[in-house]
Amino acid sequence: MSDIAGRGARDAGREGPGARDAGREGRGARDAGREARVGVAPSAPRTPDPAPRLLSVEGLNTVFDLRGGTAPAVIDVSFHVNAGETLCLVGESGSGKSVTALSILRLVQRPGRIASGSVLFNGRDLLTVSEREMQHVRGAEIALIFQEPMTALNPVFTIGDQIEETLIVHGEARGRAARERAIELLGAVSIPEPDRRVRDYPHQLSGGLRQRALIAMALACKPSVLIADEPTTALDVTIQAQILDLLRDLKKRFGLALLLITHDLGVVAEMADRVAVMYAGRIVEEAPVRELFQNPRHPYTQGLLASIPGGARGSRLAAIQGTVPPLGHLPPGCPFAPRCPRRFEPCDTAVPGVTVIEDRGARPEARKTESRTSDLGPRTSDLGHTTRCYLYSPAVEPEVLPEAPMKKSR
Ligand SMILES: Nc1ncnc2c1ncn2[C@@H]1O[C@H](COP(=O)(O)OP(=O)(O)O)[C@@H](O)[C@H]1O
Ligand code: SF4
Ligand SMILES: [Mg+2]
Repeated sequence: MSDIAGRGARDAGREGPGARDAGREGRGARDAGREARVGVAPSAPRTPDPAPRLLSVEGLNTVFDLRGGTAPAVIDVSFHVNAGETLCLVGESGSGKSVTALSILRLVQRPGRIASGSVLFNGRDLLTVSEREMQHVRGAEIALIFQEPMTALNPVFTIGDQIEETLIVHGEARGRAARERAIELLGAVSIPEPDRRVRDYPHQLSGGLRQRALIAMALACKPSVLIADEPTTALDVTIQAQILDLLRDLKKRFGLALLLITHDLGVVAEMADRVAVMYAGRIVEEAPVRELFQNPRHPYTQGLLASIPGGARGSRLAAIQGTVPPLGHLPPGCPFAPRCPRRFEPCDTAVPGVTVIEDRGARPEARKTESRTSDLGPRTSDLGHTTRCYLYSPAVEPEVLPEAPMKKSR
């Protein structure tokens, strides 16, 4: 485990200054909640955010229409990824990370559907563009790689053929130029002897080389965003480290924005610029990586960090009692309440809203944490450190309507 993860884990259990006032703040929860709903809560300050915003997910709700009714899998999720940065989306299995990734590229299959929200990319809302335009976006502008490369590689074609096909489909190259580019790409992802390996079938490659080949294919059309969904989970620890090094290197060389999805805080500590922690379909905490590890606020984040005491990369997130609620079985109030060691009076009453954490300076007397409450909606990602927990403010989530119909395609 890296230093930062270790420090984060050690500090995770410390009482945050905001926790001291928890009872008082919590008692006001219901009243303030009413205010948040009618939109009279003060608007939150914006922190400067100079980096160009490349991909912006705003108020995303994705649901599954099950026999028993409509169940939300992604609830009011907002975040953005800036050009050249890595945002890690972290949480236990079943939190809604993959459904979020699939929603961005409109790949959610029935009975799932995107109920509402927007995915802003290069001046367009990807949830409203035509399917034809989406086909261009997938691969050429935003590439997606999965945990298991075999599911994305076709076993009956060589990896060279598959990379060339991608280049041809997107009009990047054909014929000999496509073959040369395929070899170049395999070299760029450090596959040894790329001019020979280009003729290999997927089954002839090891798991690590297959993942490299998939990354080469993902990069073929020079996308500006790479979404990597648990890209190293199926690999052994040494190969994991190599693939992470590769992703870091490629990100720099190609100026990629990386949305890295993982359950592994060791990966987060090594890779992230910013981190969004997801639980039961919602982002429950978001912060720059150091801030999150050194000063985690949400009891879920604290639990995740505590679950890797001296833990090696790859250790599972197992220390929190209980499991993520299954789809369609969210408890009333805070979804983490049944597992939360710090649950108190207001937690079962309503879903906590987003609170902006502001830490005032390094001097002890100035280290008073202030939290502000607001109906932040899609702007949460602007605000540095945010969390959804009654320990820090009495905010109650504004109404979310996951059953709202998706905007029509043009
Ligand atoms: N095709 C599907 N049909 C029904 N439920 C699904 C489907 N895909 C995902 N889910 C549910 O949506 C929730 C979020 O899943 P997912 O995004 O895959 O979680 P994660 O990637 O964080 O492990 C889970 O409760 C999961 O069971
Ligand atoms: S709001 Fe949720 S996470 Fe925060 S103390 Fe209550 S139960 Fe725990
Ligand atoms: Mg997943």
